[in-house]
Amino acid sequence: MSNYHIKHLEEYFQVYRKSVRNPEGFWEEVAEEHFLWRKKWNSVLEWDFTKPEIKWFDGAQLNITENCLDRHLNIRGDKTAILFEPNDPNDPAEHITYRQLHERVCRYANVLKDQGVGRGDRVVIYLPMIPDLAISVLACARIGAIHSVVFAGFSSTALATRINDCGAKMVLTSDGSYRGSKAIDLKGIVDEALKQCPDVKSVLVTKRTGSEINMKEGRDQWVQPLLDKAYADCSPEIMNSEDPLFILYTSGSTGRPKGMVHTTGGYMVYTAYTFKNVFQYKEEDIYWCTADIGWITGHSYIVYGPLANGATTVMFEGVPSYPDFGRFWEVVQKHKVTQFYTAPTAIRALAKENLDFVTKYDLSSLKVLGTVGEPINEEAWHWYNDHVGDKKCPIVDTWWQTETGGILISPIPYSTPTKPTYATLPMPGIQPALMDENGKEIKGNQVDGRLCIKFPWPSIARTIWGDHARYKDTYFSAFEGKYFTGDGALRDEVGYYRITGRVDDVIIVSGHNLGTAPIEDAINEHPAVAESAIVGFPHDIKGNALYGYIILKETGETRNRENLAKEINQLITEHIGPIAKLDKIQFVPGLPKTRSGKIMRRILRKIASKDTSNLGDTSTLLNPEVVEQIMKESL
Ligand code: PRX
Repeated sequence: MSNYHIKHLEEYFQVYRKSVRNPEGFWEEVAEEHFLWRKKWNSVLEWDFTKPEIKWFDGAQLNITENCLDRHLNIRGDKTAILFEPNDPNDPAEHITYRQLHERVCRYANVLKDQGVGRGDRVVIYLPMIPDLAISVLACARIGAIHSVVFAGFSSTALATRINDCGAKMVLTSDGSYRGSKAIDLKGIVDEALKQCPDVKSVLVTKRTGSEINMKEGRDQWVQPLLDKAYADCSPEIMNSEDPLFILYTSGSTGRPKGMVHTTGGYMVYTAYTFKNVFQYKEEDIYWCTADIGWITGHSYIVYGPLANGATTVMFEGVPSYPDFGRFWEVVQKHKVTQFYTAPTAIRALAKENLDFVTKYDLSSLKVLGTVGEPINEEAWHWYNDHVGDKKCPIVDTWWQTETGGILISPIPYSTPTKPTYATLPMPGIQPALMDENGKEIKGNQVDGRLCIKFPWPSIARTIWGDHARYKDTYFSAFEGKYFTGDGALRDEVGYYRITGRVDDVIIVSGHNLGTAPIEDAINEHPAVAESAIVGFPHDIKGNALYGYIILKETGETRNRENLAKEINQLITEHIGPIAKLDKIQFVPGLPKTRSGKIMRRILRKIASKDTSNLGDTSTLLNPEVVEQIMKESL
């Protein structure tokens, strides 16, 4: 029996049991049989969740790009590795073969080296979904530099914070980016950000939109002429299994984003393994994940997981609504996509449109559908199942996080019977636990609690860049000896998991993780604002939208409220990005607080969701009169 490819339910249970009985033996077998190592490990796993310290395949040496590129050259060098589908459907798609990708990555890697980038240096990548994004990610990995991709929808302030946090001296970007019918001035955003980043010495710019941009003498260079001159081969830097591969930022409960650090060997093994199984990937498949490489989904399941399996991975520059709402399905038909992986928010948005946008395309190539990023509601699940999958494609509702590196809970298609809204069963090696508020594990089925993981898996993030104490505090302190996910979940009568949502101050809007603290910090910068509190409320398409309760200073009280609301959203756009804009803003005289001064967000959430029949325990509430007034004036 191969551990690597699970083909039916009984096999899943066998593999799962084996993986839990002997995790080290299990992962060792997978790692040995399917990857190229320059040197074998001294130990498979060393771990201590109290420190916390986790090491997989310690002592082993490898380069992940050798696994994603070089080893495919003899067997599938002329196979398409990246299938680039541009924003404009009238522009031709680009098929980049493994051989071409290898060459382009090597050239890019040599350019980086010429610019003085080396092992362990951080490189921030702020590029749209064009081939240079994937190529530069791999080029960093080729030379042992640590990439930190910042989603190209983030604002200049958010970009600057991330550049400074990881201490990058180089930024990779493009002149502009396309988003549907709009062109966005990316380089302008970088220029603005770099005013706050004195350590950045060099910026390489890919030409995409051809728009006029400023090139700062001595700092900025077009990358293409450098690539043209660069040598087409670059021997891989031999890395240790536990060397950092990348940093990816995620929101947290304070204003500072958390730079999650992922390392090399374990991340490679786990993302490749889960890609193979969750998508039941086969050699001739055309796999498409619609995420942006700026998020973990793109890292693990557009770039590393698929390429480590020698797959053809579609990279889509556009948006689902341009030129019309049939764009996704047009691409599926055109490239005969076999696995399609997207977010519930996209499904909900498309389900609202005329069904003709779907039915006019031939989607019969599809075999597996996937969702990720937030809970999928039943209606959206059925729409996806009925109209996209024609009731023939299993839907994999994949639960995981930036921190987990890869998918932890998901059905395995054609093995695990699916159930709408359920992520179902843990992947091999994953040991979930539901905990009660007193820190006790809740055993048995038909229970709910806080979702923890009891045992390490190979792609768990190893630390927060520059702040190990925060890593410990955020993930390993709430429940002793366990990784706490921040999510609530229930386990049904057969042991299937359903994720019910965040139990902390993170709100998921259109699949994007937004911490309330950074948004509140941005709002509080407005000179007329005294204090603010943000909560989420249910939204048909976005899943959650943001509701802001804002107290004005006396000086602000006389200002026009509509203008104020606009200015506040403008500030949020500048500090974080348009994704964090508030849908509703209510100016309030005060905020409900406990006697110890903590904002009672639970109450604000209920008011925002128009669910005020039972506000729960308000005995610790200091100012009930404020709640009355907020309710009366709620939007
Ligand atoms: O709340 C969970 C939700 O997204 C959070 C992680 O967000 P992020 O780090 O941005 O990674 C998203 C892509 C992996 C989780 O804590 N989430 C993710 N997938 C699901 C989900 N909630 C319900 N069902 C899912 N399938």
